[in-house]
Amino acid sequence: MPSTLPPSALNPAARVIFLTSALPYANGAIHLGHLVEYIQTDIWARFQRLRGHEVVYICADDTHGTPIMLRAEKEGISPEALIERVWQEHTRDFAAFGIQFDRYYSTHSEENRQLSEQIYQALKDEGLIEVREIAQMYDPVREMFLPDRFIKGDCPKCGAKDQYGDSCEACGATYAPTDLKNPVSAVSGAQPVTRQSAHHFFRLSDPRCVSFLQDWALASGRLQPEAANKLKEWLGESSPRATPNTTAINHSAEPGQASLGDWDISRDAPYFGFEIPGAPGKYFYVWLDAPIGYYAGLKKWCAENHRDFLEFVNPESEVEQVHFIGKDILYFHTLFWPAMLHFSGHRTPTRVFAHGFLTVDGAKMSKSRGTFITAQSYSDQKLNPEWLRYYFASKLNGSLEDLDLNFNDFIAKVNSDLVGKFANIASRSSGFVVKHFGGSLLQDARLLAPGSKHAQLEDRLAGSAESLAQAYEDRDTARLVRELAALMDAVNEYVDAYKPWELAKKMSDPEAAQTLHRVCSTTLRCFARLCAAVAPILPATTDRALAEVFGRSNGWRWKEIDMPEVSQVQAFSHLMARVDRAQIDSLIAANRS
Ligand code: 2FM
Ligand code: ZN
Repeated sequence: MPSTLPPSALNPAARVIFLTSALPYANGAIHLGHLVEYIQTDIWARFQRLRGHEVVYICADDTHGTPIMLRAEKEGISPEALIERVWQEHTRDFAAFGIQFDRYYSTHSEENRQLSEQIYQALKDEGLIEVREIAQMYDPVREMFLPDRFIKGDCPKCGAKDQYGDSCEACGATYAPTDLKNPVSAVSGAQPVTRQSAHHFFRLSDPRCVSFLQDWALASGRLQPEAANKLKEWLGESSPRATPNTTAINHSAEPGQASLGDWDISRDAPYFGFEIPGAPGKYFYVWLDAPIGYYAGLKKWCAENHRDFLEFVNPESEVEQVHFIGKDILYFHTLFWPAMLHFSGHRTPTRVFAHGFLTVDGAKMSKSRGTFITAQSYSDQKLNPEWLRYYFASKLNGSLEDLDLNFNDFIAKVNSDLVGKFANIASRSSGFVVKHFGGSLLQDARLLAPGSKHAQLEDRLAGSAESLAQAYEDRDTARLVRELAALMDAVNEYVDAYKPWELAKKMSDPEAAQTLHRVCSTTLRCFARLCAAVAPILPATTDRALAEVFGRSNGWRWKEIDMPEVSQVQAFSHLMARVDRAQIDSLIAANRS
């Protein structure tokens, strides 16, 4: 049995987690729809680190394919220049939202080329690659085969005009591009012709693949129940049949027939990607090398950090491999990717967590309504990224349900929870401690005043740690935020009950002075606990609180929910500003086109 990574010194039961978010395409800006996933993954990563586990959080730009090639051409630059520029933009945007990758790489890398070739060769050696001729739409003017999305025409079912080659936005029908009426190439406007070409297929219809995937999906906790059901549907009940489609989902399968088809993993030149060894003019389809990009990023990180890549990816590895994705790319991550890994001699994903889509004010994001909001515009308008982190956390519950960014709700939640409840706890109590007690805090009320109201409050917050941890672990941050808000309410009610501002007027009375010291100390110790608990969601704000309120710089620890390591406070300026409607209106105006 191969050795595993050494457990962390911090926590002997430490887990090692290789974690990814889906790789964004290198031809567009990061927008709020993307950020749902990166924020969700980053919160989970930070929570795991806070608990003493080791997380290697890897992501990269997804750089290959026809759209990127054509986009570069349109801009009059090389694809390499385009993906380099976009990499800079993406890394800037992720940093602005506090997304802390251990490595952000690119699928256009030497590591990825080598790994893609190795995996392809291993699948070939297993007899799982087959080459066969298929007919596809070809643009005779631009001299290239056309991806479905680059063919437009009339829907074969309802006749709606100007529909894409794979599905109709008017009636929802899905079909093959060859079924479109009056097709035109979106690249040149020419009428496409049908042409034959040899394609390489991953033989997913092989019974070995189906049986492996059935077992893989069964493991408890591997997939969310909705995702596991989807997979069962895709795997079907009876013997699979091969179909030369690109997605391996055979939409035309008869009821009772398995719907898993072979997967077309090659594309013809011109194409921006990796050429298939021994097949001149044929390239790996972008979706073949994209998930391998997770491994390429990990390999790069291993090289930079003197770690053994094989310890992460060998079939016996004890490292957890966890992928966060959107529900639209489930089949790539629950069919192709595990099968590619397994049959090329690698370990397979431990868990795949999917989330739903983002709507804004109840509707699909739209450029004309100004709700297709880019990460950069959010930063440019000087909105606090942690408002969005908190808001998304409050909406995500670990399911595949869609979530809505409702701006009125966003404003209410930020102002009420973060400013009114959370930040206010520190501002309404620290001044008294600085002014009257030299900034010094009394110890835990559970030790100094057992059984008192003060001790009860400290006990309630301390006792919440395991429930909060479970909510983070389950990605049910909606429940977590509700629990945190209830704890904030309890602390504020405690302050209201003791009215420290009244006690401060009676400093000559030793009992009032002592109560003031106790109440403010308990309040601030509870504030510290809340900081530790919310740190994965609000990393910058809680770091500032640690430095500016408590004068410490060594980071929060999860165990501080039970026993905060704070003994001093100092004067500080406000921790978080309110959001107002005018800021949101300018954000929407800045994105309207
Ligand atoms: O859907 C997308 O945006 C893809 N670029 C995601 C790739 S994820 C992984 F498989 F690489
Ligand atoms: Zn239609």
